[in-house]
Amino acid sequence: MSVTVRVPAKVNVQLAVGAARPDGFHDLANVFLAVGLYDEVTVTEADALRVTCAGPDAEQVPLDATNLAARAARMLAERHGRRPDVHLHIAKDIPVAGGMAGGSADAAAALVACDALWGTRASREDLLGSCAELGSDVPFSLVGGAALGTGRGERLTPLEVGGTFHWVFAAADGGLSTPAVYREFDRLTEGTGIPAPVARDDLLTALAKGDAHALAAALTNDLQPAALSLRPSLAATLAAGRTAGALAGLVSGSGPTTAFLVPDEETGERVAQALRASGTCRTARTAASPAAGATVV
Ligand code: C5P
Repeated sequence: MSVTVRVPAKVNVQLAVGAARPDGFHDLANVFLAVGLYDEVTVTEADALRVTCAGPDAEQVPLDATNLAARAARMLAERHGRRPDVHLHIAKDIPVAGGMAGGSADAAAALVACDALWGTRASREDLLGSCAELGSDVPFSLVGGAALGTGRGERLTPLEVGGTFHWVFAAADGGLSTPAVYREFDRLTEGTGIPAPVARDDLLTALAKGDAHALAAALTNDLQPAALSLRPSLAATLAAGRTAGALAGLVSGSGPTTAFLVPDEETGERVAQALRASGTCRTARTAASPAAGATVV
């Protein structure tokens, strides 16, 4: 028997970052939007836990015990006093280490898939608790749609989205380490007073209205200077997307994927084409938001 779960990528339309906390994490006001780029995780009963991965960036995904989806399977098994003996296959389409929560998505999908395969019937609350332990972005991958994440990003309040937003995502060569980007944020902001992170009213209104122009004007990523400092070439990608007709562009989360908000699907295809031809990114593709969270297919 096997179960397959489809799970979306995310873009942060606002990532407001506060000062580092004593535990090393940063308090956030993190406005997550799920986008229609998906990984699919299939779990099948097996003699022992093993992970395989297929897709364009598959060779960059660790298949050992550190794999976040494998950790999710082990966590659920432990909580229910059983062995995590499954073959976990990841059909990967979300950029790896790209700032689009691909690893978090796989973890949320593995939890939902194992829960269905084993009939453990964990409550939504228990699943969300396990997600939060696995990583700050994992709860959002479970719920999808749009949400404000506070704390380190794991405490979610669902947000209303009043329409479809169209995006172009430009993948960079190689990933960026999230802890390294936060460390660079700390270095760049050292000695400056960092205000407590809050969600922007104009941004929440733009989301609720489905107003792409207003959302474009409000897109904010406090990690962008740090990502640009570690990967200066992203400035050229951002410029290329804007020149090609995007309403706005920003680094997605900790990067290095860049996200461009476009007014409609046709403009998206044109901007993606121009980005691919610009030589400033590895590839570019379109996607729409919002998208549903982890779902059994
Ligand atoms: O929660 P997650 O494991 O995804 O976080 C990865 C790393 O990103 C953390 O170890 C930390 O360095 C950084 N981080 C942070 N503040 C957050 C979320 C992540 O400093 N709110």
